[in-house]
Amino acid sequence: MATSQPTSPLDGQFYQAADEFFPANRQIALTYDDVTLATQFSEVLPRDTQLDTTLAEGLALNIPVISSDMDTVTEAGMAIAMALNGGLGLIHYNMSEKQQLSEVDRVKHHVHGLIKEPIQVAPDQFIGDVLKMMEERRFAFSTFPVVDAGGKLLGLLSGHVVKPRYAKRKVADALTPRSQVHTVNVKELAQNPIARADKFFTDHPGIHKLLVVDDNDHLQGLFTMSDVERITQERAAQFRPARDSRFRLICGAAVSATRNMFGELDRKRILAHVSELVERGVDAVAVSTAHGFSKGVGETVKTIRSAFPHLPLLAGNVTSAAAVEYLADCGANAIKVGQGPGSICTTRVVAGVGIPQLTALYVASRAAAGKRVSIIADGGITKSGDIVKALTLAQAVICGGLFAGCPEAPGQIMEINGKLYKQYRGMGSLAAMKAGAAARYGHSSDANRKLAAEGVEALKEVSGSIDNVLTQLIGGIQSGMGYLGAANLVQLREKARYTRVTAAGMREANTHDVVEVRTGA
Ligand code: XMP
Repeated sequence: MATSQPTSPLDGQFYQAADEFFPANRQIALTYDDVTLATQFSEVLPRDTQLDTTLAEGLALNIPVISSDMDTVTEAGMAIAMALNGGLGLIHYNMSEKQQLSEVDRVKHHVHGLIKEPIQVAPDQFIGDVLKMMEERRFAFSTFPVVDAGGKLLGLLSGHVVKPRYAKRKVADALTPRSQVHTVNVKELAQNPIARADKFFTDHPGIHKLLVVDDNDHLQGLFTMSDVERITQERAAQFRPARDSRFRLICGAAVSATRNMFGELDRKRILAHVSELVERGVDAVAVSTAHGFSKGVGETVKTIRSAFPHLPLLAGNVTSAAAVEYLADCGANAIKVGQGPGSICTTRVVAGVGIPQLTALYVASRAAAGKRVSIIADGGITKSGDIVKALTLAQAVICGGLFAGCPEAPGQIMEINGKLYKQYRGMGSLAAMKAGAAARYGHSSDANRKLAAEGVEALKEVSGSIDNVLTQLIGGIQSGMGYLGAANLVQLREKARYTRVTAAGMREANTHDVVEVRTGA
């Protein structure tokens, strides 16, 4: 039973709730390191805290962390790792639309319980055709059910024969025949398909695929042992993978406010691309630009919203209440907040605009509450403590730099003076804009025109895997919540009490007067 909390009015005079603290500090814009949070009476152990967050109807995460839609941060590998950890990856748009679709495909096909629409092959195809399809669609698996034109199961094409040496053979000549393929009738799956498949694999050592058929022997799905094992293990984990209703990993994709050659919004093209993303099963689309409080972004959001009334839509970036209200009215469910806080951003230096992140988040959060939309803190996060502070106002955070050194981020590892690095560049850097991101910054994509860069090209030291980085970050968030006595993110927002810190306070907060022999990480 909860005990009543010991309080003192004195604390309230020094450590203030957001609605007192931020208006009292309205003359100066604050960011993460400008404030610290006061501890509160707690009955909550960090390990028991819940981190789930809902950004829109149909978009719930098990951890409030999203990887940024940047071309050195999120492609399929990162999105898969984020979703497996309970978060979300936003696939960037600095690639062809076709490639972006195939990245989304890879995430949605990654791990399944019952794969309801397994990739199938036809008996008259050549093995060479199958190899080509695998390469084009970047499938990591090589065993395929073989079905006739009516969907009837004819056999299984095993990975052992999907080899270039057999390229000229027909699938029909290389398949394992129907009589030797293990199947289960869809009617037998009942309530717990995974348990049924798990038992099958235990009872049949050496068999790794179980096909599902109906009474007419039409293919209805496929279980693989590795998926089933992973899912069984997942059930014990505190932060489960973020999955859709069909048990596929969730995946987001960014789009821009694309214009045609006359400079007008290219609604047809935007809609055609979003339709294809939706067909692939994308769980959220982010209209991602540097200046979200603009007619182009608003019209793009409206266009997508009217065609897809239920698609979770993120939009940004903004830093004002009016901008949040505008994008919410246009139909966005979650608004990205952040202009210039990013580790590779130079927007504030180049354009002289942008608001330090905590003040921007406060202003945005109050407007968002009025419109019943969420906000996402995007950029400037360098440590778990920043995430705790961001989550006192926002429903999730977006990180770029923190993840860019992970092996799951795109890009090659390079060695400089014995140290390993990966490239990390701003989407407003010259190189990224030339590669296609110029629209995000409102510049022409004409390669001959000079662009004003708003980001730099940089390097990040290679870090551990996303699993390791997230374990550290989540541990920090849970500690913060334990100190505030917050069992979940709603309580964290209610319980946060802030005070300003000086440069001396910051110095005190970091390690000092010691020779560090081992970092905390
Ligand atoms: P962090 O701090 O996580 O920031 O590295 C990532 C976020 O920064 C934004 N972004 C940019 N902002 N110029 C900018 O002003 C750029 O070139 C740029 N590239 C990315 C973006 O919101 C990202 O999520």
